[in-house]
Parts: sequence; structure tokens; C-alpha cells
Amino acid sequence: MTQWRDICEVAEIGVGDHRVVRVDGDSLLLVNLGGCFYAVENICTHDGGELGGGLIENDTVTCPRHGACFCLKTGKVLKPPAFEDLRCYPVRIEQGWVQIGDKPIE
Ligand code: FES
Repeated sequence: MTQWRDICEVAEIGVGDHRVVRVDGDSLLLVNLGGCFYAVENICTHDGGELGGGLIENDTVTCPRHGACFCLKTGKVLKPPAFEDLRCYPVRIEQGWVQIGDKPIE
């Protein structure tokens, strides 16, 4: 069963903003896309680049190391040199708080 972790208040991350957070030791990238929150692993599947330092445009993030691009909504890799998708984590809003589940979406 998913355990939910309080991350921050909704108002702390505006539309288009992002934050690197830790959930049970894992580094995740939390983004607010048009008022909906999404969380993906913060580590590029190509060679471990930290995606939180990358360019976030529309619903994608580009790895700052070698330019792989991923969809922030689905984790799908959109551009090499990465070929593996990112893991996505469930996000919900509870009483004004953003919560992230402790296990990736399968
Ligand atoms: S580490 Fe991300 S593209 Fe190479």
C-alpha cells in the first residue's frame, strides 16, 4: 500500500515552477505543470545527471549533461542519448499539501 509523504504546501510551488525533493532517500523532481503536480526521479537514466538542473519547457525536462529529454507527465524518454524512461511517482493534494507516494507508479 502506498504511504504518502507531505512535501510542501501547494502555494509554495507556482505554475511552471519545480523543486528537487527527497522521498525516503530518493531524489525526485516535483513540477507544477499548469496547476497539476507531477514527480519523476531526479536522476537521468543515461548517466546519472541531475535533472533538477536541466531546462524545463512545457511538459519536458532536458538533462543538463548530454541533452536527453523526458516527458515530465509520463517519464517517457523523448530524445537520446537516454533510452530508458524515468520512474514516475504518484502525487496528490491533501488539505492544501502536496503529497508524494513512496513507491513509483508501475
Ligand atoms: S546523463 Fe543525462 S543525458 Fe547523459
